[in-house]
Amino acid sequence: MTTLQRAEAAEHALSQELDRIVVKSVIFTSGERDPRQPVSRPPDDGRLYMMGHDPRLPKMPDKPTLFDFFRLRFGPSAHLLQSARLAMKNAVDEKIVLACLLHDIAIAGFIRSDHGYWSAQLVEPYVDEEVAWGIRYHQALRFFPDESVGYHYPELYRKLFGADYVPEPHIQEAYRQARQHKWYMTSRLITVNDLYAFDPSVQVELEEFTDVVGRHFRQPKEGLGFDQSPSAYMWRTINWPTRYL
Ligand SMILES: [Fe+2]
Ligand SMILES: [Fe+2]
Repeated sequence: MTTLQRAEAAEHALSQELDRIVVKSVIFTSGERDPRQPVSRPPDDGRLYMMGHDPRLPKMPDKPTLFDFFRLRFGPSAHLLQSARLAMKNAVDEKIVLACLLHDIAIAGFIRSDHGYWSAQLVEPYVDEEVAWGIRYHQALRFFPDESVGYHYPELYRKLFGADYVPEPHIQEAYRQARQHKWYMTSRLITVNDLYAFDPSVQVELEEFTDVVGRHFRQPKEGLGFDQSPSAYMWRTINWPTRYL
């Protein structure tokens, strides 16, 4: 057995214990496995397929809030919390504090690739247009210095992507457009407060941002995922990531 086959067998054994059959989305495994190959699935032994809450995950409330997603579905969010705290310390507009708190939520709970765009789309129906715009473009702006506000090309990126990494043409074009936009500085301020060298000994609690979120994030009364907003389905997918359809 190859490593992948062994992993799949172990996973099958695990999913045998569930009373529903779980089939993973292609994007969960593409790369680890060739997406063109048929997905191996557990034997159909009369069980039904997963169509809701996955018992391996903590149960979400029926009307989940943004903080419920932070607590029950997102990975560790010290980066977001410390960036938002830094923004607060730098006395930027509250909307920018919120933007910093949310700028990488796609990485925290959804999809890394093109995270600025996914993060913006997730929050767009619930925040000021300017906040979503800033989040979308921070992805491109991160690669381009702006000495006027003391923003340099991140040393970390040299380590992560190599000294010769050059952003692709679509990222360069996004930067060029953002540079001329009236909200350029909103997005730029996200990058200025985007803290990578965070201090592991500093604990920031979500509650520190209860008021900012309360004032600037329009929490739907039905709960995130159950309103009819253009991104509700994305929140539902985070809530129920293993639904068959
Ligand atoms: Fe980011
Ligand atoms: Fe970030």
